[in-house]
Amino acid sequence: MAGAKNILVINGPNLNLLGSRETRHYGRDTLKAINARLAGRARKAKVRLATYQSNSESELVGRIQQARRERVDFIILNPAAYTHTSVALRDALAAVGIPFVEVHLSNVFAREPFRRESYFTDIAVGIICGLGAKGYELALEFALQYSGRK
Ligand code: DQA
Repeated sequence: MAGAKNILVINGPNLNLLGSRETRHYGRDTLKAINARLAGRARKAKVRLATYQSNSESELVGRIQQARRERVDFIILNPAAYTHTSVALRDALAAVGIPFVEVHLSNVFAREPFRRESYFTDIAVGIICGLGAKGYELALEFALQYSGRK
Protein backbone atom coordinates (compact mmCIF):
# COMPACT_ATOMS: atom_id res chain seq x y z
CA MET A 1 0.00 0.00 0.00
CA ALA A 2 1.54 3.30 -1.08
CA GLY A 3 -0.24 5.57 1.37
CA ALA A 4 -3.75 5.20 2.76
CA LYS A 5 -6.54 6.20 0.37
CA ASN A 6 -9.62 5.63 2.52
CA ILE A 7 -9.16 6.97 6.02
CA LEU A 8 -11.54 7.01 8.97
CA VAL A 9 -11.08 9.26 12.00
CA ILE A 10 -12.90 7.99 15.11
CA ASN A 11 -13.35 9.94 18.33
CA GLY A 12 -14.78 8.48 21.50
CA PRO A 13 -16.83 9.82 24.40
CA ASN A 14 -16.86 13.48 25.42
CA LEU A 15 -14.68 14.55 22.51
CA ASN A 16 -17.78 16.24 21.08
CA LEU A 17 -17.15 18.75 23.89
CA LEU A 18 -13.69 19.74 22.69
CA GLY A 19 -13.23 23.48 22.81
CA SER A 20 -14.95 23.87 26.16
CA ARG A 21 -13.99 20.66 27.97
CA GLU A 22 -11.04 20.86 30.42
CA THR A 23 -9.16 23.18 28.09
CA ARG A 24 -5.94 22.91 30.09
CA HIS A 25 -5.75 19.27 28.97
CA TYR A 26 -7.47 19.36 25.60
CA GLY A 27 -7.01 22.88 24.24
CA ARG A 28 -9.53 25.25 22.68
CA ASP A 29 -10.01 23.69 19.26
CA THR A 30 -13.47 22.26 18.64
CA LEU A 31 -13.85 18.83 17.08
CA LYS A 32 -15.57 20.51 14.14
CA ALA A 33 -12.50 22.71 13.54
CA ILE A 34 -10.12 19.75 13.86
CA ASN A 35 -12.19 17.65 11.47
CA ALA A 36 -12.40 20.53 8.99
CA ARG A 37 -8.60 20.80 8.91
CA LEU A 38 -8.29 17.05 8.40
CA ALA A 39 -10.86 17.14 5.60
CA GLY A 40 -8.98 19.99 3.90
CA ARG A 41 -5.72 18.08 4.02
CA ALA A 42 -7.39 14.92 2.69
CA ARG A 43 -8.95 16.86 -0.21
CA LYS A 44 -5.52 18.24 -1.09
CA ALA A 45 -4.06 14.73 -1.01
CA LYS A 46 -7.06 13.44 -3.02
CA VAL A 47 -7.94 10.74 -0.54
CA ARG A 48 -11.24 9.84 1.07
CA LEU A 49 -11.60 10.81 4.73
CA ALA A 50 -14.62 10.25 6.97
CA THR A 51 -14.98 11.40 10.56
CA TYR A 52 -17.08 9.86 13.31
CA GLN A 53 -17.67 10.62 16.99
CA SER A 54 -19.81 8.75 19.47
CA ASN A 55 -20.30 8.63 23.21
CA SER A 56 -21.51 5.03 22.96
CA GLU A 57 -19.24 1.99 23.05
CA SER A 58 -21.74 -0.06 21.05
CA GLU A 59 -21.93 2.54 18.27
CA LEU A 60 -18.15 2.78 18.13
CA VAL A 61 -17.89 -1.01 17.76
CA GLY A 62 -20.49 -0.85 14.99
CA ARG A 63 -18.60 1.91 13.19
CA ILE A 64 -15.35 -0.07 13.30
CA GLN A 65 -17.11 -3.14 11.88
CA GLN A 66 -18.66 -0.99 9.15
CA ALA A 67 -15.18 0.29 8.24
CA ARG A 68 -14.18 -3.13 6.94
CA ARG A 69 -17.25 -3.26 4.66
CA GLU A 70 -16.29 0.22 3.39
CA ARG A 71 -12.71 -0.93 2.72
CA VAL A 72 -11.26 1.72 5.01
CA ASP A 73 -7.49 1.21 4.86
CA PHE A 74 -6.39 3.31 7.84
CA ILE A 75 -8.01 4.48 11.09
CA ILE A 76 -7.01 7.41 13.27
CA LEU A 77 -8.50 6.69 16.67
CA ASN A 78 -8.89 8.62 19.87
CA PRO A 79 -10.80 6.16 22.07
CA ALA A 80 -10.95 8.80 24.87
CA ALA A 81 -12.05 7.21 28.16
CA TYR A 82 -12.56 3.84 26.43
CA THR A 83 -8.78 3.75 26.00
CA HIS A 84 -8.56 2.61 29.57
CA THR A 85 -11.58 0.30 29.74
CA SER A 86 -12.76 -1.19 26.45
CA VAL A 87 -11.91 -4.76 25.52
CA ALA A 88 -14.88 -4.59 23.11
CA LEU A 89 -13.33 -1.77 21.06
CA ARG A 90 -9.95 -3.45 21.07
CA ASP A 91 -11.51 -6.69 19.85
CA ALA A 92 -13.37 -4.83 17.09
CA LEU A 93 -10.09 -3.34 15.82
CA ALA A 94 -8.35 -6.70 16.01
CA ALA A 95 -11.28 -8.30 14.16
CA VAL A 96 -11.26 -5.89 11.22
CA GLY A 97 -7.45 -5.85 11.04
CA ILE A 98 -7.31 -2.25 9.79
CA PRO A 99 -4.05 -0.51 10.76
CA PHE A 100 -4.59 2.40 13.13
CA VAL A 101 -2.78 5.12 15.03
CA GLU A 102 -3.93 5.89 18.57
CA VAL A 103 -4.13 9.63 19.26
CA HIS A 104 -4.54 11.48 22.55
CA LEU A 105 -4.61 15.24 22.82
CA SER A 106 -3.19 15.22 26.33
CA ASN A 107 -0.07 13.49 27.56
CA VAL A 108 -1.79 10.57 29.24
CA PHE A 109 1.50 9.52 30.84
CA ALA A 110 1.73 12.79 32.77
CA ARG A 111 -1.74 12.51 34.32
CA GLU A 112 -3.52 10.13 36.70
CA PRO A 113 -1.95 6.62 36.84
CA PHE A 114 -5.08 4.94 35.37
CA ARG A 115 -4.54 6.87 32.11
CA ARG A 116 -1.21 5.11 31.54
CA GLU A 117 -3.00 1.86 30.72
CA SER A 118 -4.36 1.50 27.17
CA TYR A 119 -6.18 -1.45 25.63
CA PHE A 120 -4.98 -0.29 22.20
CA THR A 121 -1.32 0.64 22.16
CA ASP A 122 0.09 -2.86 21.66
CA ILE A 123 -2.07 -3.49 18.58
CA ALA A 124 -1.72 0.06 17.16
CA VAL A 125 0.83 0.93 14.48
CA GLY A 126 1.84 3.71 16.87
CA ILE A 127 0.64 6.30 19.32
CA ILE A 128 0.72 10.10 19.35
CA CYS A 129 -0.06 11.78 22.64
CA GLY A 130 0.40 15.12 24.31
CA LEU A 131 0.63 17.20 21.11
CA GLY A 132 -2.91 18.55 21.29
CA ALA A 133 -4.99 18.78 18.12
CA LYS A 134 -1.78 18.68 16.06
CA GLY A 135 -1.62 14.99 16.90
CA TYR A 136 -4.51 14.25 14.51
CA GLU A 137 -2.81 16.17 11.69
CA LEU A 138 0.46 14.33 12.28
CA ALA A 139 -1.39 11.01 12.31
CA LEU A 140 -2.98 11.93 8.99
CA GLU A 141 0.41 12.79 7.47
CA PHE A 142 1.62 9.38 8.64
CA ALA A 143 -1.44 7.65 7.14
CA LEU A 144 -0.86 9.41 3.80
CA GLN A 145 2.62 7.85 3.69
CA TYR A 146 1.77 4.52 5.28
CA SER A 147 3.09 1.58 3.33
CA GLY A 148 2.46 -1.24 5.77
CA ARG A 149 6.02 -0.76 6.99
CA LYS A 150 7.43 1.91 9.31
C1 DQA B 1 -7.90 11.50 25.90
C2 DQA B 1 -7.26 11.02 27.21
C3 DQA B 1 -8.23 10.09 27.97
O1 DQA B 1 -7.61 9.66 29.17
C4 DQA B 1 -9.50 10.82 28.31
O2 DQA B 1 -10.41 9.95 28.93
C5 DQA B 1 -10.12 11.49 27.12
C6 DQA B 1 -9.25 12.12 26.14
C7 DQA B 1 -7.01 12.54 25.18
O3 DQA B 1 -7.28 12.82 24.02
O4 DQA B 1 -6.09 13.09 25.79
O5 DQA B 1 -11.33 11.59 27.03
O6 DQA B 1 -8.04 10.38 25.04
